[in-house]
Amino acid sequence: MTENVILCTEGLRKTFGGLVALDNVSISVEKGSVTLLMGPNGAGKTTFLRVVCGIYKPDAGHVYFNGRDITGLKPHEIYRLGLVKTFQIPLPFIKLTVLENLLVAARDNPGESLLRAPFRRAWMKKEEELVEKAFNILELLKLDHLWDHPSYGLSGGQMKLLEIGRALMADAKMIMMDEPVSGVNPVLAHEIFARLLRLRKELNVTFFIIEHRLEIALKYVDYVYVLDRGRLLTQGEPEKVVDDPRVIEAYL
Ligand SMILES: Nc1ncnc2c1ncn2[C@@H]1O[C@H](COP(=O)(O)OP(=O)(O)OP(=O)(O)O)[C@@H](O)[C@H]1O
Ligand SMILES: [Mg+2]
Repeated sequence: MTENVILCTEGLRKTFGGLVALDNVSISVEKGSVTLLMGPNGAGKTTFLRVVCGIYKPDAGHVYFNGRDITGLKPHEIYRLGLVKTFQIPLPFIKLTVLENLLVAARDNPGESLLRAPFRRAWMKKEEELVEKAFNILELLKLDHLWDHPSYGLSGGQMKLLEIGRALMADAKMIMMDEPVSGVNPVLAHEIFARLLRLRKELNVTFFIIEHRLEIALKYVDYVYVLDRGRLLTQGEPEKVVDDPRVIEAYL
């Protein structure tokens, strides 16, 4: 595993009873890239994400993150290492404001710890730093004007941005998303991808995205993996992959 690779998998296999959902899947994701995982329904994309994030244990194979073998670690341990999966349907605490939603997502939030609560001055300072960090993230996401709005008033697209903001607040180094623009209108869907590129540039975060809306996603990603019936069909730059006859056939 070279230094500019943040995530790689080796020979991942996952079965459900007799069904082989993942068959010998090996991929390698470059640090700071935006990578797309595409493939027809039932190809195994969501299963792949769940295996990488520790929700499912693979039957065989390995997952390496930042040079470390994370195979079999629990989801919260993987999350702590900076590999964060956002929810397909984002469910932030809807009664909290946008800013509060970011603050509760921060790791080691000192105000949350009962033991440390008596040391008020120390956590006041930490709290201020967290608020500043939250505002920086909100600015990058262009959500700063909504900071004191309750989350239930956000549109579906804004909710997805908020979910990304929460991942960043938790110091995510790599963010994995399952269909981030499903159900989002085309204008906002493009806007979401444009903001991802901005985050990648400003924070050097790596994105790994599953998406069916190829007409949107392919414009923004650096590299593409195509999964079909549990197997890696092909990989490469977006322009190359969409012209691959095997890919066209898999989608027919
Ligand atoms: N928990 C599970 N138990 C049994 N079978 C499962 C489970 N999860 C997924 N599968 C099966 O594994 C295969 C791959 O499913 P997966 O959800 O990973 O596909 P996908 O590529 O994400 O599809 P879609 O594009 O429709 O979201 C499918 O045949 C699915 O029915
Ligand atoms: Mg899926």
